[in-house]
Order: sequence, then C-alpha cells, then structure tokens
Amino acid sequence: MSRLVSAKDMLNKARDGKYAVGQFNINNLEWTKAILLTAEELKSPVILGVSEGAGKYMCGYKTVVGMVNGMMESLNITVPVALHLDHGSFEGAKACINAGFSSVMFDGSHYPIAENIAKTTALVNTCDVLGLSLEAEVGSIGGEEDGVVGMGECADPAECKAVADLGVTMLAAGIGNIHGKYPENWPGLRFDVLEKIKAQTGDMPLVLHGGTGIPDDMIKTAISLGVAKINVNTECQLVFAEATRKYIEAGKDLSGKGFDPRKLLAPGFEAIKDKVKEKMEIFGSVGKA
Ligand code: 13P
Repeated sequence: MSRLVSAKDMLNKARDGKYAVGQFNINNLEWTKAILLTAEELKSPVILGVSEGAGKYMCGYKTVVGMVNGMMESLNITVPVALHLDHGSFEGAKACINAGFSSVMFDGSHYPIAENIAKTTALVNTCDVLGLSLEAEVGSIGGEEDGVVGMGECADPAECKAVADLGVTMLAAGIGNIHGKYPENWPGLRFDVLEKIKAQTGDMPLVLHGGTGIPDDMIKTAISLGVAKINVNTECQLVFAEATRKYIEAGKDLSGKGFDPRKLLAPGFEAIKDKVKEKMEIFGSVGKA
C-alpha cells in the first residue's frame, strides 16, 4: 500500500527534468477521487491541496487525512501523492502536521519579512524532523481565496533568497499571478522578476499559484525558468459547476433516478478528471511517477 509522501523528491525531480507537478485543491470526496484516479491513470505525481476553509468544510484535517488514506488504499494508488495544506496560518500548519498531512504551506507573506522568517524557521525545524515538505511564500498573490485577499505584488528577490536559505522545500513567490479568473487587462506573468528570483534562490523549486487561466505558453516559460509546482483550484470548480448545470438544465435529474447523487455528480466528476488530465499534460508530469 502506498502512503502519502513529502513533496520534496517529486519537486526536485520536476525541477531537474524541467516539468511541474500540479497541486489540485480538493473540496470533497468526488474531487479527491477524480484527482487521484487521473494521477494514477497518467502515472503522474500529484499534490492534493487543502485550504483552511476547505479543511473546515470537510469536517477538519483528520477527516481529510482519513479520507485520502482510505482512498489511496482502496483505489490502489501507487503514484507519489502529497497531502498539502494550502496558504496555511502558523496554527493551521501545526494542526495539519499533527493530523497527518505530508506537506504544509505556511503563508507568512502578509507579515513583515522578519516575522515571516521567524515563523517559517520554527516550522522548518519541525518539518525536517518529521520528513514533511514545507512551502513558504514571499510577496502576496493577488485575488481572493477563502477570504484571504492579496494585492498581487511581485516578490523581492532578496527576500526570496532569505526565505529559501532557511531550508524550506519549495518557495511561492508573487510574479504578477493572482488567484481566480484573470481580468481582461491582466498584463501577464513577470518573467523578469522570476528570472531574478531564480538567480537568487538557486536550486529551490519555485511554486506558481493562481494556475487557473494562465495561457499555456506562459506556463511553459515559467517552468523553463524554475517553476516546479503549479497550483490549480478555480478551474476545476468552474468545469464542475458547468457540467452540473448542464445536467440539470437538460432536466436529467427529473428523468428516472437522475436525482441520485451518484448520477447527479458524475458529469462534474468527469469534468474534473478531464481538466486535471489537460493540466498534467501541459505541466509535463505525465509518466513521471
Ligand atoms: P486558482 O484558483 O487561481 O487556480 O489558484 C489556486 C491556488 O493558487 C491555490 O493556492
């Protein structure tokens, strides 16, 4: 039986092989099953992201760990899977470590840099001892996610180096990316900033948040410049909602046993599988497990 793993090895391999591992956020059983089955089908490593809000929604981190571990076993998942806290607070990171997550993000980007460094340092030590991966963030990411609103500023490369040098596993750095849909007038990713961050942080696998709606060519350039992990959340929500709406608008829930949740949620489930497959192909992680 395979068990949850730290994201360290998969991201170091991705960095060396010039591809990226997708972090797909989960919200419930259907989401988790769709992502795990697709990763297994495509022989791709994968990271399951859980925001603090989603963790609460799913009845707490222990419930999430139990669900994911149970699914890994009963679906015979053999590819590397990390269960990762997304944009965690310091307390949230500690709670996930205790609950059995294999990876956590501490997002201290809204603190003054000295406080971000102090809190990140405390978690580096804990994660090291337990063999868990730790993601840190510098320069907040724009948009809105679970009530956390960032301004989308670009990270300061010197601050990125200071945080990378603490010994974190991977580093999220703002380069003009935002969560959710990109506005029409979005100027695109700041590759000039990404290059400077890469030059300062050396071998550190870099994380690109806000994967939804970034054009494929920008994704590929970002990977070529050191991005080894890409987070996708909203895009799966959009295709799930669209497929479910179509099913209901077509009146399928009113025909026969179409109201059965196993039927009602099936189109959305398939839509998530298709979306995750599309992303894994663009990220280049297919066959890399
Ligand atoms: P999107 O919702 O824009 O895909 O961003 C996901 C993300 O970055 C999670 O941390």
